[in-house]
Amino acid sequence: MSKDIKSVNYGLEKIFEGAQDFLPLLGTDYIELYVGNAKQAAHFYKTAFGFQSFAYRGLETGSKETVSYVLKQDKIRLVLTTPLNSKNPINNHIVKHGDGVKVIALWVDDARKAYEETTSRGAKSYMEPFVEKDEYGEVVRAGICTYGETVHMFVERKNYKGVFLPGFEEWNSDYNPEPLGLKFVDHMVGNVGWGEMNTWVKWYEDVMGFENFLSFDDKQIHTEYSALMSKVMSNGNGRIKFPINEPAEGKKKSQIEEYLDFYEGPGVQHIAVATDDIISTIEGMRARGVEFLTTPPDTYYEAVPKRLLAHDHKLREDIETLKTLGIMIDADEEGYLLQIFTRPVEDRPTLFFEIIQRMGARGFGAGNFKALFESIEREQARRGTL
Ligand code: FE2
Repeated sequence: MSKDIKSVNYGLEKIFEGAQDFLPLLGTDYIELYVGNAKQAAHFYKTAFGFQSFAYRGLETGSKETVSYVLKQDKIRLVLTTPLNSKNPINNHIVKHGDGVKVIALWVDDARKAYEETTSRGAKSYMEPFVEKDEYGEVVRAGICTYGETVHMFVERKNYKGVFLPGFEEWNSDYNPEPLGLKFVDHMVGNVGWGEMNTWVKWYEDVMGFENFLSFDDKQIHTEYSALMSKVMSNGNGRIKFPINEPAEGKKKSQIEEYLDFYEGPGVQHIAVATDDIISTIEGMRARGVEFLTTPPDTYYEAVPKRLLAHDHKLREDIETLKTLGIMIDADEEGYLLQIFTRPVEDRPTLFFEIIQRMGARGFGAGNFKALFESIEREQARRGTL
């Protein structure tokens, strides 16, 4: 008999029962990318990923230094920011890293307290609590530095009724491609340098009160040629999950090392976004030109029924459809998950996206790591970076 599997939206509350959470996080507030051309990037994320025009700040709204486009799809907000002159310090970030994630903003009830709790535990300040106001109320934000040049911004918006943040206006566009069913940020992965994974695991434990709820060493995550290590950090209510990767020694260059070389330091490797209908989401994304990693070989799909049966789960989707779309399947005791990875979304082989549908499983696709990394290695070989 197959178990009754509920789709998506699980919580990890049980793991933390009884533990005191000094940093209650309500969810991911927004993800801000520093990019070379925000106008064109916004068009890409609207067209290819189905994001909707949401808010805007630029010359027309009185912002003389930077322009930002805010895109939204269900609970996901992406902010794309570009400097408007050569003196703006954001240029240094773009010169060094290329397009990439600068801010992982976390929604809190009290930004001042979040800042005090984390800085008193050793976080380096990025921005002291700062109040922005307009006719719709006020937002308090404060930021701390995490790995590389990446920042966690705490956002308190309980006294704000405006569209996004003070200074932003509603963005109404004549071009509105249909959304593609992306719902919320499932997890965001950071790549850190050689031997730095445990330093950042401890940082998330000590500074943010997170717990390490899954670990994979290089014996589990390797192919014939390359390896990496990963530990998954989660906050108290399980809404925020940050796996942290570091490269490991192999015969050839680890994909994490390739990332570190091209991003020129640690940073966000991928943003995993959840859908509750991965087949229609991926059909739509493929039709709109999103490039995905190559589909695993037939032998991968032949082994899937066995892997699901080992855990007593029944696949609800048609396996041939999943295979045609290149969607991967993994299972654990609690259920299964469906996932697929885009190619990097910029020319440097750095940031990419994962689309994930959870059918009860709480893992991250460990059973797919080998097939996935072999696929990445084929791309690395083409780039001459393996
Ligand atoms: Fe992932």
